[in-house]
Amino acid sequence: MKILVTGGAGFIGCNFVHYLLENHPEDKIVNLDLLTYAGNLESLADIADKPNYQFVKGDIADMEQIDALFAREQFDVVVNFAAETHVDRSIKDPGVFVRTNVMGTQALLDASRKYGVKRYHQVSTDEVYGDLPLDRKDLFFTEETPLHTSSPYSASKAGSDLLVLSYYRTFALPVTISRCSNNYGAYQFPEKMIPLMLTRALHDEALPVYGTGENVRDWLHVKDHCAAIDLILQKGREGEIYNIGGHNEKTNLEVVRLILEALDKPESLIHFVEDRKGHDLRYAINPEKIERELGWKPQYTFEKGIRETIAWYLEHREWWQHILDGAYKEYFQKMYKM
Ligand code: NAD
Ligand code: DAU
Repeated sequence: MKILVTGGAGFIGCNFVHYLLENHPEDKIVNLDLLTYAGNLESLADIADKPNYQFVKGDIADMEQIDALFAREQFDVVVNFAAETHVDRSIKDPGVFVRTNVMGTQALLDASRKYGVKRYHQVSTDEVYGDLPLDRKDLFFTEETPLHTSSPYSASKAGSDLLVLSYYRTFALPVTISRCSNNYGAYQFPEKMIPLMLTRALHDEALPVYGTGENVRDWLHVKDHCAAIDLILQKGREGEIYNIGGHNEKTNLEVVRLILEALDKPESLIHFVEDRKGHDLRYAINPEKIERELGWKPQYTFEKGIRETIAWYLEHREWWQHILDGAYKEYFQKMYKM
């Protein structure tokens, strides 16, 4: 099978490329990524020379480039990770979120239709459901929960989900969608909460906790997310949405305290700062459908996963230090002479 992975130089995408190469060495993988600030080829340095892997620098919203790539490669499967993903950035500058997340998805859908792709998979998020109240622990997001977005980021992801479903209904394009909760693990860009707190704590810098720190996120190890997407590609039903989550709710303050404890750093580093605008209170996934239909179960407990993740950041200081000082951009120029 020939698989197009878009956004494969980002956090989840690069973990998925590694996952595919390990678990499906018979497949050919093309990784299309624009290398925005969030794309980092250093995350793929160990597999860059594999004969069944190829990197292409490009923009999912550039219809001409996408058409030419699909005409040349004749993909069997497309997995779309490419997106603008940081909620805080979407509050400052929504336009690029609509361009990449909505128009980029449309360009991929059109090409998938034109060139007869056998499965188009959209990597989506639980944020499309909005949030749940903190005092109703009995409530969870199911695939039937109405879309009710809070930020320009989540609105753009909901828009792309609706486009994907419309291509199924109108054109019978064989699509699937997964909506996952917050991921953590290796190679996450240090603007997101866990690596941000980790890297700042290691430098003894203040940890900016939004509001009261009582907001709840449902954390899932990135490798469990990759395995779930693989299962959906193998066994998922066309036109269906699958929620992915591991029943692992934590307040932000709990996660920050855990990181401080693991690094033996003082709680005095915690600084409560102004809340995020429109800040979602609680996310919580009901993953019954993917468990029942596809037999998926997370392999990581949070205790094991976060311990390994902290160890990874300690052992890979160069990786995140290069990001913090901007050096990873030079790596690309050196590698690809562009
Ligand atoms: P990320 O920000 O780490 O990576 C995004 C990647 O997309 C980067 O490599 C970037 O260069 C690339 N990209 C951006 N614009 C592009 C464009 N126009 N053309 C081609 N490539 C482009 O994101 P992530 O956290 O790995 O998230 C990947 C996907 O998973 C996103 O669709 C996101 O909405 C979804 N998701 C993320 C989480 C999470 O917790 N991180 C949870 C659920 C779903
Ligand atoms: O739920 C899935 C989503 O998870 C994905 O769709 C998004 O792409 C991904 O970025 C993530 O969104 P969040 O907004 O939940 O993640 P973030 O790491 O930005 O923030 C997690 C929580 O931590 C949130 O409640 C805000 C809080 N926070 C975040 C930062 C960056 C802080 O308190 N301080 C911070 O500095």
